[in-house]
Amino acid sequence: MKFVALFVIFLLLLNGFSTAQTLIQDFCKKAAAKHRDIKYDFCVSSLQQDPQSKSATNLTDLLIASIKTDAVKTTNVVGIVNQIIKEKKYGKDIESSLDACLSCFYEATDELKLTVASIKSHDYSDANWHMSNALYSSEDCDLDFKQRGLQSPITNETNVVYYKILIYFALTEML
Ligand SMILES: *[C@@H]1O[C@H](CO)[C@@H](O)[C@H](O)[C@H]1NC(C)=O
Ligand SMILES: *[C@@H]1O[C@H](CO)[C@@H](O)[C@H](O)[C@H]1NC(C)=O
Repeated sequence: MKFVALFVIFLLLLNGFSTAQTLIQDFCKKAAAKHRDIKYDFCVSSLQQDPQSKSATNLTDLLIASIKTDAVKTTNVVGIVNQIIKEKKYGKDIESSLDACLSCFYEATDELKLTVASIKSHDYSDANWHMSNALYSSEDCDLDFKQRGLQSPITNETNVVYYKILIYFALTEML
């Protein structure tokens, strides 16, 4: 009896997990077909990063999980930038741009939190507005380097944030 109950729970969990997997894979397939800048593998691994994505049953669940992983990433970028500044490997010019990037990514993180709040209150136009702000904030970091003719030491990080945010817009198109 006990074993049967456990087995049923196991099957239910497995079923929930595979529903979420299918949801993620189907979405990423469609998104990659529609948008040149969205790569299937990046999309799947990015969406799987949030533990809640494993129990996602619809695209709204997935959307919230995806924004949470974005906020984890922007917070992670703040940590990386702080570390680079501490190491003092670069000159004053690059450091000054990195300082600007810190504010940009703090701001982006705040905007991501506001995006989740807007979605939870079903205000999608507000959510899109906050998400656009998050995108512009992270682009501002790159722009600061470009305008001074400097090579950003965190190009990869800013690219990852950019591609992750594209996933958000692709998801909202399909809601
Ligand atoms: C999506 O699923 C969650 C539960 O996983 C539920 O709370 C929510 O209402 C669903 N949203 C839509 C739009 O179906
Ligand atoms: C940036 O990404 C490229 C390709 O993904 C990789 O080869 C390179 O090592 C990365 N650079 C840094 C600084 O992480």
